[in-house]
Amino acid sequence: MNWLISTLGSSIGKKLMMAVTGLGFIGFLTVHLVGNLTLYSGQDLFTSYVKQLHALGPLITLAELGLLSFAIIHIVIGTLLFYKNLMARPIRYRVKKNAGGRTIGSATQPYTGFIILAFLILHLLNFHFAEHTNKSLYKLISSVFANPLYVGVYVIAMIVVAIHVSHGFWSLFQTLGANHPKYMPLIQKLGIAVSLVFGIGFGFVPIFISFIA
Ligand code: HEM
Repeated sequence: MNWLISTLGSSIGKKLMMAVTGLGFIGFLTVHLVGNLTLYSGQDLFTSYVKQLHALGPLITLAELGLLSFAIIHIVIGTLLFYKNLMARPIRYRVKKNAGGRTIGSATQPYTGFIILAFLILHLLNFHFAEHTNKSLYKLISSVFANPLYVGVYVIAMIVVAIHVSHGFWSLFQTLGANHPKYMPLIQKLGIAVSLVFGIGFGFVPIFISFIA
């Protein structure tokens, strides 16, 4: 317990918790994207994927609880770091420096984080908490994306997720100690590749369901 308090009390401890939880989200998003890709081949494959997933029973509940605790830690510490940065810089610098260079991802990291939180609340209301069975989940997704407003909101949210991940990926590896000049440019490129895969892979789903399927 003392270990946890002193870790959370230090700046590097806070950054470490952000990095570990961020890595957890990248793992979750990868699994979630692979599952969502079955939507591209229609109702049958998606429904059999959902059935197999839900057959895992208690393991899914455990993963959901893990994800929820990671989300709470990431949001609380992220907000604390954002507030601390705001307080430390009452007068804005004209040029903000960042070890990875100033990118749209680094400049907007806390703001994209808050937008993703708002998206997540909407998303869970749309799909997780909406009444459905394994069989009716595909129909639920089709009915949500029959509304062009939701298609627009989801596509914009996926662009925001991609921007957040583009910097988060680089930043978490730097915190975890991979900040060697030899590896960082590669990690930065990998971060952009991962964010493009998430942005395009998730972002095209609402368009596909709404206009093509
Ligand atoms: C177009 C993109 C997306 C689609 C179509 C989609 C679809 C879904 C569906 C259908 C569920 C409910 C699964 C079930 O009840 O069995 C779900 C759950 C969830 N989604 Fe997404 N999702 C998308 C993008 C995202 C993104 C980008 C995030 C994170 C930033 C996310 C986070 C979650 C979470 C946390 C859950 C709850 C997981 C659980 O409790 O088991 N989703 N999603």
